[in-house]
Amino acid sequence: MTNQPSPRAGTAIVTGASSGIGKVYAERLAARGYDLVLVARREDRLRKIAADLGSRFDVHAEALVADLSQAAGVAAVANRILNDVNVSLVVNNAGFSALKPLTETPDDVIARMIALNITALTTLSKAALVAFKAKGSGTLVNVGSGAGFASYPGIPVYGSTKAYVYLFTQSLQSEVEGSSVRVQLVLPGAVVSEGWDVAGGASLEPLPESIVMTTEDCVDAALSGLDQGERVTAPSLHDASLLAAYELAGTSLLQAVFDSRPAPRYT
Ligand SMILES: NC(=O)c1ccc[n+]([C@@H]2O[C@H](COP(=O)([O-])OP(=O)(O)OC[C@H]3O[C@@H](n4cnc5c(N)ncnc54)[C@H](OP(=O)(O)O)[C@@H]3O)[C@@H](O)[C@H]2O)c1
Repeated sequence: MTNQPSPRAGTAIVTGASSGIGKVYAERLAARGYDLVLVARREDRLRKIAADLGSRFDVHAEALVADLSQAAGVAAVANRILNDVNVSLVVNNAGFSALKPLTETPDDVIARMIALNITALTTLSKAALVAFKAKGSGTLVNVGSGAGFASYPGIPVYGSTKAYVYLFTQSLQSEVEGSSVRVQLVLPGAVVSEGWDVAGGASLEPLPESIVMTTEDCVDAALSGLDQGERVTAPSLHDASLLAAYELAGTSLLQAVFDSRPAPRYT
């Protein structure tokens, strides 16, 4: 850890960097000259990835082993964000799903999913905005999911955690308005990763190739959206007007719901 600003791109902290989307983020960010702090639980994988990226791209890459469903793990990463002035980018990517109806989802899985997908992401977002606002720059990327747009059978808790990520990350925009701090919300659709096995999807029929994106395409599109200054990037959404209509419907409903009079259909 250092308190001297680096002349390079700075340091990117990527959570969930031991596989899938996070691993590709780590590689692409190393290629862009970022030093890396790679966060996940599987130390062996993180160390291998850090060593590989450090030597291939001539960047400093280190592993920060942390269980982000536990308060101590979240605190370790938050401290790093708050105390390392070189941290210029935080990618809140770690997350997991369980493909089960609520009644069949074990309580500890529900608790860990909410702790990781919501609590850790919220605490680390706060640390990032505090640190970035203090130094006047920095970028926060939160990985949500298309599954947060509407309820979908079989993922009652996961989809809802991602709906939280949608609303929470959108609401941060007003906190960084007028500053050089940036917040990007990334909303992948279906992406090929170990995440499907973790969720229990290995036992399902494989999804048609036409709807599943590679991790590489997903991250490259997300970074393209970031480069273009997007607040919300949905890598696989071809018709961007759908997202605009969704956002507009939400804002219109929010305004319309504030009325002292009961709606006529209830009187
Ligand atoms: N794949 C999709 O179809 C899809 C679609 C939309 C959104 N997403 C989102 O994309 C993100 C990445 O998912 P992925 O598909 O790349 O899945 P993945 O390959 O399973 O990667 C998940 C990453 O999160 C880490 N992680 C899991 N639990 C953790 C914990 N308690 N503490 C710290 N790290 C933890 C895992 O590492 P360790 O096991 O080593 O800890 C792994 O590095 C998630 O937020 C997911 O919800 C995925």
